[in-house]
Amino acid sequence: MPPPLRCLGCANHSCPNDATQSCSGCFLVRYCSKACQKEHWKSHKQDCKNPLKSKSWSPTWVTENRKPAFISGPNEANIQQKRWGNMMSIDLINAKNNEGADGICDKDLSLAFIASGDLRNVVRTVNELPEDYIGTLKIVLNDKNPMAVCRNLMILTILGIVEDVEEAAEHALHFWYSVFQPLSYRDHVFPLFSDAPTFQHLDGTPACLTSTTTVYMRWDTDTTYFLISLLAGDEIEFPQAKNALSRTMYAPERIDHRERYYASLRPSHRVAFDAWRRSGILLPFGAMKDHMYVPNRWLFSRQGNLLLYDSSSPLKGWDYNEVVKAGRAHGTTDDDLMGGMFFYVKDQLVEFSKRLRKFKVHIYSYDKDARDLPAILKRDVSSPKSFDRIETSNITDKNYVGLSILSDWGPLLNEANPNAAIIGLFMNWTAWKRAGEAASSKAMYLRARRRMASCKFTVSTCPKFADTDICDSVLGLAPCV
Ligand SMILES: C[S@@+](CC[C@H](N)C(=O)[O-])C[C@H]1O[C@@H](n2cnc3c(N)ncnc32)[C@H](O)[C@@H]1O
Ligand SMILES: [Zn+2]
Ligand SMILES: [Zn+2]
Repeated sequence: MPPPLRCLGCANHSCPNDATQSCSGCFLVRYCSKACQKEHWKSHKQDCKNPLKSKSWSPTWVTENRKPAFISGPNEANIQQKRWGNMMSIDLINAKNNEGADGICDKDLSLAFIASGDLRNVVRTVNELPEDYIGTLKIVLNDKNPMAVCRNLMILTILGIVEDVEEAAEHALHFWYSVFQPLSYRDHVFPLFSDAPTFQHLDGTPACLTSTTTVYMRWDTDTTYFLISLLAGDEIEFPQAKNALSRTMYAPERIDHRERYYASLRPSHRVAFDAWRRSGILLPFGAMKDHMYVPNRWLFSRQGNLLLYDSSSPLKGWDYNEVVKAGRAHGTTDDDLMGGMFFYVKDQLVEFSKRLRKFKVHIYSYDKDARDLPAILKRDVSSPKSFDRIETSNITDKNYVGLSILSDWGPLLNEANPNAAIIGLFMNWTAWKRAGEAASSKAMYLRARRRMASCKFTVSTCPKFADTDICDSVLGLAPCV
């Protein structure tokens, strides 16, 4: 891997200078000088003149004057993004508005993430604690999906064992979000796994991940086998992985779904998102990607199919305003969506990795159905029994578990803490509420149509949007995710 990317330099890769000016054609790359921009033009031209960037770009269903496939075909809304969360990360403690930032510094805290498909809420929550936090932090990290449990452990392990925090953060980030990882993952990180404390203590005995963080795997044997089979399994060949990526990202029958999303983006963001789909690599637009060619085993099925959808994107899991701010601080342009994303997630992971090496943390990793976990915790001698916060994700929605989660977990709230709370989401309720359906009330439907027609986006970027069928589909059932 080239040295960790702290600040994006001149997009002309042979030049070591800082960048000072954006390309005025696309606003996606930056150069130190006109001379460098000129030298780089041959390779940049294709991106800069990408038709998606043109103001006159229209979705194919508009230019071909036909009904888009998402009107009658299967709706993108029914597709679940299983690898990465699709709700903005949250700070579960939010000390400033609860216990108070000062009051929390030396307070022991127990947190439960009972359906934690990825680590983003854990990362945000730990990072928002005061820098001088000296309490003991106990975290129950559970998901019933073995893939999610193992991925979370892999990321924690990378963040704990790779010595340099910047490198640890970049490797963890690519493990989490990139379809291709840097060559140094295979050459330098993978060999470290054989001595990793977490993998030597899969039997549940304490694993000292860092000098201050201990992890306890409380797994069924199936999950352990799953982890070992992925660690020991065959690698995927690069051409096979590239084919699988383009089969998913450019499936011809999905063109209208993809372009429906593009129609909601500004031109440079379409180009940035398209570059993400093409490469599958989370790096700034102009960054060097030649070293990123080790297929990420954890994003492919055993048969070699990509376990992502063409709508999958890390953007859904993080605060977009913070992403733009991080991009600016590290030298990307505001239009470089994935560049900002790279630096934001990397900053979060650097800080999290530092805190795993400094705070007193105990992580209890479980692979259970959240309904069964309270009874299991009760039996498990060393696990926490009561919690200052319990995060349920949206398994409170009735297509997962529903409201019984509240009665299962309510008794586990720490009675001594008046701020103890269960925090969850209801994402899918509109799907079961008749009044939430466009077809349920003519008056409501027309009101919603009028509101949509007055939206700037509706009028300016999608001339066909006033079409009744399209409105029907947009106002239809909310996604089940
Ligand atoms: C509810 S899903 C949906 C993703 C969510 N919208 C987000 O943004 O994170 C999140 C995680 O819950 C897990 N899950 C679903 N039902 C569960 C249950 N009964 N017990 C434990 N985990 C569960 C899934 O495996 C998935 O990893
Ligand atoms: Zn230069
Ligand atoms: Zn350009």
